[in-house]
Amino acid sequence: MSDDRPILGIETSCDETGVAICGPEGILAETLHSQVALHAAHGGVVPEIAARDHVARLLPLTRQTLESAGLAPQDLGAIAYTAGPGLVGALMVGANLAAGLGYGLGRPTLPIHHMEAHLLAPQLDTPDLQFPFLALLVSGGHSLLVQATSLGRYSVLGDTLDDAAGEAFDKVARLLGLPYPGGPPLARLAESGDPERFAFPRPMLRRKDLDFSFSGLKTAVSICIDKLGANLTDQDKADIAASFQAAIIETLVTKSRAAVAQTGIDKFVIAGGVGANTELRRQLDDGAAADGFSVYYPRPSLCTDNGAMIAFAGWCRRSQASSELGETQARPRWSLEDLAPPNDAMAADRD
Ligand code: KG4
Ligand code: ZN
Repeated sequence: MSDDRPILGIETSCDETGVAICGPEGILAETLHSQVALHAAHGGVVPEIAARDHVARLLPLTRQTLESAGLAPQDLGAIAYTAGPGLVGALMVGANLAAGLGYGLGRPTLPIHHMEAHLLAPQLDTPDLQFPFLALLVSGGHSLLVQATSLGRYSVLGDTLDDAAGEAFDKVARLLGLPYPGGPPLARLAESGDPERFAFPRPMLRRKDLDFSFSGLKTAVSICIDKLGANLTDQDKADIAASFQAAIIETLVTKSRAAVAQTGIDKFVIAGGVGANTELRRQLDDGAAADGFSVYYPRPSLCTDNGAMIAFAGWCRRSQASSELGETQARPRWSLEDLAPPNDAMAADRD
């Protein structure tokens, strides 16, 4: 399909239900429901609760999105949905609605890679952000440094060997008695703390590769809290938060600058929930000014999970819409490197 009819995008890979419609001029309408409050009591995302809530929310959100775009279902050209990576039960909810809608309307579906959608999302606000660029994708589930050469051609330069950056923020926040998700309250607490009081490890900094590892850092924080024991004051907590944040950010920024130096690519995108961290942004900006590269920050609502990025990725890949009606894919594990350019881009490459 290569017409210009709008594309519906459905995101259900984790704890946000997102629906949006993308057309030639960009996003026509979007809706989002966050499950954060549902999972907060459990200290993290509970997969079964996530899947059930997507079932309850997805159809009403889809109707609402079509209504605010002033469109009927028949006006859609294709249905894009997050096919992975993510929680399998949650993914199945979006995949099945996409398949059902596609079948009912006689429209093709587009299985979208969630991390590719994060990678492409900044182009929604900054159309002149052209390939090639580098990206740091840091969320609750991922810490990836990616080289994006062209649509569908990605190399993972660095990955986490254990916890993702957001997961480390969440776990340390929990140790400090902060609510889930822990990144924002931990960052706020760190503002009144001394980042140099505790010398927490800067994991993997001495290694030449671009991989991350954050579980040792979390263990160091846990040992520190145990040592302070019952005497732990509010100031101690703020100092721990600030020292932890300093260690994790130094690691992320150092590896990001190393990726720029290694590849010579001077455009750098940051995405994912941790990308909202102001101290990370400040230090990355300092590094970029020193090394001479540009950093692109998507607006916060595009950093976290949303339907707009899926609709937009679907728009970018609309030429590859599957003609097999009713087909569904749900891939909990799926490497960005397994993707390929859409057919028309491959044909253009050959020309
Ligand atoms: O991308 P995201 O909304 O959802 C997925 O994980 O896919 O990322 C959520 C993660 C959580 O771990 C949260 O604690 C972290 O991003 N986060 C932050 C900040 N805001 C959100 N971490 C550090 N500083 C922040 N300001
Ligand atoms: Zn995400």
